[in-house]
Amino acid sequence: MKLKFNADGKFKILLFGDIHETHDYETSLNFKDMQKLMVAALEEYKPDLCVLLGDNCNTDRFAESPENFEKMLRAVVAPITERKIPVAAILGNHEHDHGNEDEIVKVYGKIEGCLTRNDTPPEVTGNANFRELIYSSDGEKPAFCLWFIDSNNCHENREISHYDFVHEDQIEWFEAESAKLKEMNGGKPLPSFVFQHTPVPEEYNLLRKAKIWELPVAFRGYNSHRKTLYVKKKGVEGIAGEGPCSPDVNSGQFASWKKVGGVLGAFFGHDHLNDFAGYTDGIFIAQHRTAGFRAYTDGCRSCVRLVTIDEKNPEKFTHELKRFKQFGLKCECLGPIFRNISDRQSLLLHIAGYTLGGAAGVTAIGFLIKYLIERFGG
Ligand SMILES: [Fe+2]
Ligand SMILES: [Fe+2]
Repeated sequence: MKLKFNADGKFKILLFGDIHETHDYETSLNFKDMQKLMVAALEEYKPDLCVLLGDNCNTDRFAESPENFEKMLRAVVAPITERKIPVAAILGNHEHDHGNEDEIVKVYGKIEGCLTRNDTPPEVTGNANFRELIYSSDGEKPAFCLWFIDSNNCHENREISHYDFVHEDQIEWFEAESAKLKEMNGGKPLPSFVFQHTPVPEEYNLLRKAKIWELPVAFRGYNSHRKTLYVKKKGVEGIAGEGPCSPDVNSGQFASWKKVGGVLGAFFGHDHLNDFAGYTDGIFIAQHRTAGFRAYTDGCRSCVRLVTIDEKNPEKFTHELKRFKQFGLKCECLGPIFRNISDRQSLLLHIAGYTLGGAAGVTAIGFLIKYLIERFGG
């Protein structure tokens, strides 16, 4: 399938984070609400490509019945495929949980319009590393590249890192392919985006240590960052509700993007309470919370992000985040309290975080302030 810029020089990509669909989808209100969001976003934006950012469908019963998995996957992406819109789904850590990755990728490949595949040789780490070119509106030449990188599962040695990272051989593949594209593009790096499930450690560059008076709205860093309570840096948009669960080891992926050039932005899933976005070292980093109602999240804040690339000026791509309620949708799967206030898991996360940090006394006030700021401030 050849992607190409439209006659108006634009290409629109619609992003869906961690849907985590599961087996009772046919009767589930959670599934129904997720699909309402998907349909509303597709109708409003009419994207040229949809991207599912990993942890898309549960794979725990894959070995038992690949056929049932395929049915569930087809149901999840039906609003996209019925509209004949191409979809690229990447693998999240949960697609790696049960050791059926190659078979899972094959099932994705059976879906009409699904671009998911593995372009790297079998010995290269990961099961779905691939790239897709967007051609110029006249169809003559590649004008933009989309990288879909498999960020793997948890690390085999949790003392080194809880989550695995993008390995050196994957980075080598990216660099070798980038060099080919650069040559094809007259010696200039082809502008590109990266789509990946687990965020790079540099996502923490968008955060800073909270000041004492900011503790009520701060959140604890993850694993190797756990001793620090963070808030977003000035200019970073969106919600940061938990410490980014990036790997504890920096494998040099972000440094490689800077070295190679052309990477304008990187889009991640994995952390269900985060949808903040901003620039670090000239590269746009965007986190995506869940677009569904299966994974932990804050009430009805499930959302999608639209990214629009302009063929003539790709560096000036635009992006907008839109939440479930902003589409005018009514949530059926959550009770009246959780439709309006952060859900139970989020509440517990905050209580646990502040208690462990020795700030239990401010938890209730902090949570109330945080809720008021996020409810009425943005
Ligand atoms: Fe997830
Ligand atoms: Fe994940």
